[in-house]
Amino acid sequence: MRALVIGASGQVGAALLHALRSRGHEARGTHAQNAVPGLDRLDLTDHAAVARAVAQARADWIFCPAGLSYVDYCEEHPDEAMAANRDGPAAAARAAEAARAGFVYYSTDYVFDGKAGPFGEDDSPRPLCVYGRSKHEGEQAVLAACRRALVIRTSVVYGPERQEKNFVYQLLRASRAGDDFRLATDQKASPSYNPDVAAASVELAEGSLFGIWHVAGPEVLDRYTFALRICREFGLDTSKLTAVTTAALSQKATRPLDGGLDVAKAQARLRTRLRGPDEGLRAMRDAGAGVDPPRNMK
Ligand SMILES: NC(=O)c1ccc[n+]([C@@H]2O[C@H](COP(=O)([O-])OP(=O)(O)OC[C@H]3O[C@@H](n4cnc5c(N)ncnc54)[C@H](OP(=O)(O)O)[C@@H]3O)[C@@H](O)[C@H]2O)c1
Repeated sequence: MRALVIGASGQVGAALLHALRSRGHEARGTHAQNAVPGLDRLDLTDHAAVARAVAQARADWIFCPAGLSYVDYCEEHPDEAMAANRDGPAAAARAAEAARAGFVYYSTDYVFDGKAGPFGEDDSPRPLCVYGRSKHEGEQAVLAACRRALVIRTSVVYGPERQEKNFVYQLLRASRAGDDFRLATDQKASPSYNPDVAAASVELAEGSLFGIWHVAGPEVLDRYTFALRICREFGLDTSKLTAVTTAALSQKATRPLDGGLDVAKAQARLRTRLRGPDEGLRAMRDAGAGVDPPRNMK
């Protein structure tokens, strides 16, 4: 296939470019604020530029991991969140439809209320925060705009990342600096290894498996437990980790607590194996990511 990845400077987008190319597909990518050699600049909020870029790409598939995923920032900037997570992707999905291309949108377990996770594809969304709402409305908008749309919901994505901003890098930096790190024991999610999310995405597109899919790690963990696993894998001291409740963190946006994604449908249908946190963290370290001193990533 020929593919365009909108948001290839992000962690999922970079993994997607790699997965597409390593499976023999032709792929180009875009960035927004963080320029990366070889990527073209594209701002999703410029709908005319989005339409031009999609038409010019002559792609069979448009992958759109681009978006605003800082949950507390979205809470305070709802217009920006809706523009990046709903309206921009909807414009790209309309352009994909006009070009008879497929369209892949990335969403989150934050579309659910966290009352009884893990959630399956057939459970009803009920987002608790602006980020979750912008993603839920984004899902509906792209499914309405493009007949060949695929919605991939994922959760706490980690793995090798150029910008080194995912949860694993944040914890590693704090831990190596000897800083305190407070982690909620009542926020559960499904840590997801970014190369697996990318490989499963490409497999879904290759099989034209449209509709909604949960693509995440198979183990549901609270943040504190995930942090302990990270420290164990990277050989770090855990004495500065403090277990707290979500209420004690005073986060701006309300999070789903008993969250996470049921991935039985993807596991039954896909050849791509979705690795649990221990295996994913081991693979990340083996790839030279997050280690100190840094090594070139494989
Ligand atoms: N990370 C998670 O834990 C997680 C969990 C569940 C769902 N998701 C969803 O999965 C997707 C990928 O996540 P990620 O971790 O790869 O995010 P990320 O690393 O923050 O990457 C986001 C990408 O979107 C681009 N972007 C942001 N605003 C844009 C705009 N206005 N126009 C065009 N591009 C824009 C960024 O470009 P620049 O960096 O160049 O500005 C970057 O390439 C997101 O949609 C996110 O909501 C993520």
